Amino acid sequence: MDKQGYPRITDIVGLGIFLFRAMLIFLFIGEIMKQSRLPKFIFMSLVVVLGSISLTFAGSHGHKKDTKKGILLVAFGTSVPQAQKSFDHIADMVGKEFGTIPVKWAYTSSIIRKKLAKQGKQLDSVEMALVKMMEQGFTHVAVQSLHTIRGEEYDDLVKTVQAFSHLPDGFEKIIVGEPLLNLEDDMKTVTQAIIDNLPPQRTKNEAVVLMGHGTPHPSNAFYAALMFHLQRKDPLVFVGTVEGSPDITEIKDMMVEKKISKAWLVPFMSVAGDHAMNDMAGDEEDSWKNILGKAGISSTPVMKGTAEYDNMVTIWIAHLKTAMSYL
Ligand code: CO
Repeated sequence: MDKQGYPRITDIVGLGIFLFRAMLIFLFIGEIMKQSRLPKFIFMSLVVVLGSISLTFAGSHGHKKDTKKGILLVAFGTSVPQAQKSFDHIADMVGKEFGTIPVKWAYTSSIIRKKLAKQGKQLDSVEMALVKMMEQGFTHVAVQSLHTIRGEEYDDLVKTVQAFSHLPDGFEKIIVGEPLLNLEDDMKTVTQAIIDNLPPQRTKNEAVVLMGHGTPHPSNAFYAALMFHLQRKDPLVFVGTVEGSPDITEIKDMMVEKKISKAWLVPFMSVAGDHAMNDMAGDEEDSWKNILGKAGISSTPVMKGTAEYDNMVTIWIAHLKTAMSYL
């Protein structure tokens, strides 16, 4: 307050910073509570303690921070240990490309984070990872989506990042890199990468069926569009989805029409995880393998996620490079 009793601008800014930081800390605590069984009152005391710490720090704003750039890679996550190699491959290629810039990871699926927490592996949500990066003094962050299309997960990521981009004393710049299949250009490069990655043992009249995830989100249309572009290069490549359209029944009908008797099943997801193991290649009656089998089409699954291929990861990295160029 000044002498006249009016609050000064700096007081208001200071209060704003305090409120934002308190909000972030609540978020942070909420995240820990979800993953832990410690009694509630311990967390409430933590909130009070951290709140007062943040009040103390709120007073020390105003000086220009040193630039510190960072990368946050954001994937859905996987509970299948073998599928982790997709993420290791991305980490490897991103490390080679960006050298000294620190790379952090976050996983958008809370189900997977909880599942892995029970096995003792603590994975960060996007909020958690960004709070940590803020506290570590990062000023410029490129958040790269490792999703396949611009679906719900991606939209949520953008909203979260937007919330973080307006914090006083927070990041100076934070930007989201686009998912694999985003622009018309990506359609061309992804189509070519898929064609180049087709199973080498496949013979001419054998089909290849890609399994996309699928979503109620309007961007589900990307899958049918991708099939159109693929079939212009190779008429026996199909794209179905687990949770959207085209579904496997529609794909099966198309294959029966073309009198196909053998197919290769290939995940069109970054990891060959639970969906690939069960929905695609599993022994359940409604797995893709068995649905095709009943229609007289024998199939061979290829248990390899898209992020295991260099040419696919290169596309995500190109999007990350674009994001970095705006930092
Ligand atoms: Co799923």
